[in-house]
Amino acid sequence: MKRIFEEVTLGNLIVKNRLVRSATFECGAENGVITPFLKEVHEGLARGGVGLIITGMMGIDGNSCIKPSMVRVDREEFVPKYAEIAKAIHQHGCKVVIQISHCGVAASLFEGDSALGPSDLEGLARGMTKDEIKAVITAFGKAAKKCQETGADGVEIHGAHGYLISQFLSPYFNKRTDEYGGSLENRARFLFEVYEEIRAQVGKTYPVWIKINQSDLVENGFTPEECLCVCKELEKRGIDTIEISCGIGLNKKTSSAKINGDEGYNAEAALQIADEINTTVICVGGYRTYDGIEEFLNKGRLAAISLCRPLVREPDLPNRWQSGDRSKALCISCSQCFLPPQLKCRFVE
Ligand SMILES: Cc1cc2nc3c(=O)[nH]c(=O)nc-3n(C[C@H](O)[C@H](O)[C@H](O)COP(=O)(O)O)c2cc1C
Repeated sequence: MKRIFEEVTLGNLIVKNRLVRSATFECGAENGVITPFLKEVHEGLARGGVGLIITGMMGIDGNSCIKPSMVRVDREEFVPKYAEIAKAIHQHGCKVVIQISHCGVAASLFEGDSALGPSDLEGLARGMTKDEIKAVITAFGKAAKKCQETGADGVEIHGAHGYLISQFLSPYFNKRTDEYGGSLENRARFLFEVYEEIRAQVGKTYPVWIKINQSDLVENGFTPEECLCVCKELEKRGIDTIEISCGIGLNKKTSSAKINGDEGYNAEAALQIADEINTTVICVGGYRTYDGIEEFLNKGRLAAISLCRPLVREPDLPNRWQSGDRSKALCISCSQCFLPPQLKCRFVE
């Protein structure tokens, strides 16, 4: 029987328990440069007992960010500033994986005339040229290398939630007629090229993870069957850990952070995927109870559970549970923690 508080190997990383902090955008930067707030948040989480932190999404280039408060990995201050945070996290026996992202059509900061996406989106974004695709692939590789230089334990490709990679995967956004659109093989080509470039930059043994949607939660979106095919291919290529999520974030119905979601709302799909591949699979979405989490862990081959909003409300939830107080997480899933300017729980002041 799997227990929450026991050592687990995720990919090739040894982690002290089966609770992972899922990526949560901290608003921890000014003009892309890390502020002291990011260290406060990450150190607080490490002190609170979580086994591994996945950072909030960090942008890879000047077209990839939703806000100036999103960390940019391509800023020259990034490596020394994040190295200091990674060191602080490690001092608490916690590991850290940096999530790297390009927000595509959702980006509100861009260097050219409009945001970039797989296809034109009237008034919002322009379909990328092949040269632009190549440039973004190169930028992902460079960003991953920078993350490795900070001493972080791995990188996670943000392939979920309606951001650029998810936009390419999704027929909802991707209307291309060249080799990057149409069939699943074509829609997934961009992701595979990003993965291969990252792998070439960081080497064979550095942990490369992905967060991916089991469903876009929209008609004509990416489906659980397609997700399984993509995961099988990523396994062949050597991905280390797959985190299963959902949603393309157009509105409440398609949000990855459900307000009235059942506990473990992505678990059924994640368990099916975990059953069909050997790569480590973890799952996010609605986990709030100690017993519920252990039940999901023991239903199949999920190696760990990741949490976002509960750790905004209670960064020390893992310590609380480990010390014997196993009452439900205090988070009420209101998602008010999305509100700017800084990540915090607004249900309790
Ligand atoms: C404030 C906030 C920020 C988030 N930022 C990110 C992010 O940077 N990257 C990401 O992959 N998911 C992000 N998410 C989604 C969460 O990681 C998670 O998938 C979702 O909230 C469901 O998990 P939960 O029920 O434990 O909150 C964010 C969610 C919230 C509420």
